[in-house]
Amino acid sequence: MGIYLDNAATTPLDPEVFEAMKPFLLEDFGNPSSIHSHGRKVKAAIESARKKVAELINCTPGEIIFTSGGTEADNAIIRSAVETYPIKHAISSVIEHHAVTHTLSMLEKQNIIQVHHVRLDSTGNVDLSHLEELLKEFPGSLVSLMHANNEIGNILDIETVGDLCEKYKAYFHSDTVQTIGHYRHDMKKLKVHGMAAAAHKFHGPKGIGFMYINKDRKIHSFMQGGAQERNMRGGTENIYGIIGMTKALEICYREMDAHTSYIKGLKAHMIEKLKSAVPDVAFHGDSANLERSLYTVLNVSLPESVENEMLLFNLDLQGISASGGSACTSGASTGSHVLGAIYPNSKRGAIRFSFSKFNKPEEIDFVADRLSEIYKVSV
Ligand SMILES: Cc1ncc(COP(=O)(O)O)c(C=O)c1O
Repeated sequence: MGIYLDNAATTPLDPEVFEAMKPFLLEDFGNPSSIHSHGRKVKAAIESARKKVAELINCTPGEIIFTSGGTEADNAIIRSAVETYPIKHAISSVIEHHAVTHTLSMLEKQNIIQVHHVRLDSTGNVDLSHLEELLKEFPGSLVSLMHANNEIGNILDIETVGDLCEKYKAYFHSDTVQTIGHYRHDMKKLKVHGMAAAAHKFHGPKGIGFMYINKDRKIHSFMQGGAQERNMRGGTENIYGIIGMTKALEICYREMDAHTSYIKGLKAHMIEKLKSAVPDVAFHGDSANLERSLYTVLNVSLPESVENEMLLFNLDLQGISASGGSACTSGASTGSHVLGAIYPNSKRGAIRFSFSKFNKPEEIDFVADRLSEIYKVSV
């Protein structure tokens, strides 16, 4: 099956999750809005899933709204927060996921808000003093800053940002798509008002996610339709998705400590292997810092070489799946807006490896050896 090191793009479904979903694909097919027994049974399963998700992230069930995934959750929170509150300014960064950057620029184009970008340091971290300056100038803004960056893995100090948002009465949205299921979130402590999650990033099914909406900063519904999801998201529920996502999150919490240290070990192993195998190797963002970056993501900076253009293709030929993204725009690939913003003049190569509990140390060794072969001959 080859070596899969692209878990920040999506993860394989956990077989235990599939088992939990099966009855809802085959037997329990009722529409949860129907009042007969077939519908009631499914409705009860959804509500107990909501309760479970809420319990895991320590919030109330009413604060969880199921969505089709991360993109919908980000869109819904940003658009509805702006529509619900008199928000005229948004503070964000240029390295957010496109679900955020494109939503904000669309709102700006429609003259609904003005977007201000917070300064980043040389490795892509938010400059918190600049954030405070912007908040002072534009109190009551929407702040949209991701908990962890999907390309370079940098982790935001979400607690401090929450405190600043409270101080300046901002609405704080955080894209937590890369951290839900990998880190513990305690919504009673975090001062986040809206948060997005996608099940396929933590061994759940695709096409399902949720948003957390703080009960004291409620927002209007994003879609118009039926009364599902407490009037917050019309449409017949993705019941097997909801059941699968909930099971996946339960497994993540049940085994979080073991998985964290195992995956962190894989990443540390890859860093060491690459340092000794590839001349002049470096790492983008804070991804080589095990404490300040996602333990699932390593973004490798490779020496300027003719090999860079074809690297992903060459690894793919050897059965290795990873993700690319170079700072410059070349050929058919549009490059990475994240690397482009942090390393605007870089001609180095970039490859993102992202790990899961299903990866093995031998796979890391194999990949490091292939990179060593490629870069020893060509540098
Ligand atoms: C940080 C981040 N936000 C949002 C998304 C979008 O999630 P989904 O694919 O579930 O819409 C992704 C997935 O690529 C992501 O990594």
